[in-house]
Amino acid sequence: MSLKRAGKIAKKITWKPGNMLAPVPVVLVSCGGSRGWKPNLITIAWIGSVCSDPPMLAISVKPERYSHGIIKSTGEFVVNVPSADQTKATDWCGVVSGRDLDKFSAASLTPGPALKVGCPIVVECPINIECRIRTSLPLGSHTLFLADVAAVQVSADLVDASGRLAIEKAGLIAFAHGHYFSLGRHLGHFGFSVRKRKKRKRARSD
Ligand SMILES: Cc1cc2nc3c(=O)[nH]c(=O)nc-3n(C[C@H](O)[C@H](O)[C@H](O)COP(=O)(O)O)c2cc1C
Repeated sequence: MSLKRAGKIAKKITWKPGNMLAPVPVVLVSCGGSRGWKPNLITIAWIGSVCSDPPMLAISVKPERYSHGIIKSTGEFVVNVPSADQTKATDWCGVVSGRDLDKFSAASLTPGPALKVGCPIVVECPINIECRIRTSLPLGSHTLFLADVAAVQVSADLVDASGRLAIEKAGLIAFAHGHYFSLGRHLGHFGFSVRKRKKRKRARSD
């Protein structure tokens, strides 16, 4: 099988090595709520899924963040995936520190009960992923926290009658080189490039 040329051929220039990967998710990580820590929120863009079975993800946090000490001490956190409605709150939680204030209340975000961990979820966020840390790895500027997904909650209004998660209704956002974007047009689904076209029924003339 041959595919048509996928885009234009552009001249390349050398760029400084750095974190060029884009877009990436941007999330509100909640932490605290146990072991004497008050609940806190930190905005994280250095995050990724790293294993399907068992489900695992990793976040990278700078040691100087107030949340770093909380996450290290409690061994758990919740990844709250924001929708476009929470873009401003997501940015704000990434520029102020929980050392000085209660970010939940100041950002008008609602803490809700998690199923398996001690930290609260952010109720407004459509997806909440509860994580327990398996190991941490100091990398340099950031500590990588590698975690198992212990539980997931999704907003009920995103699940249709057949039980499908209508993720296209979640209003998810992406982060690229310092800018927040909403997701654009739907381009295809997993494996669409090899899906066989359904044969059209021929109209019978006889
Ligand atoms: C869009 C965005 C992405 C960020 N990503 C990260 C990240 O991946 N890791 C990190 O340590 N800090 C990141 N930050 C910075 C922290 O969110 C920020 O320093 C925050 O105020 C720390 O809060 P805390 O002191 O309450 O822990 C990001 C900030 C923004 C706005």
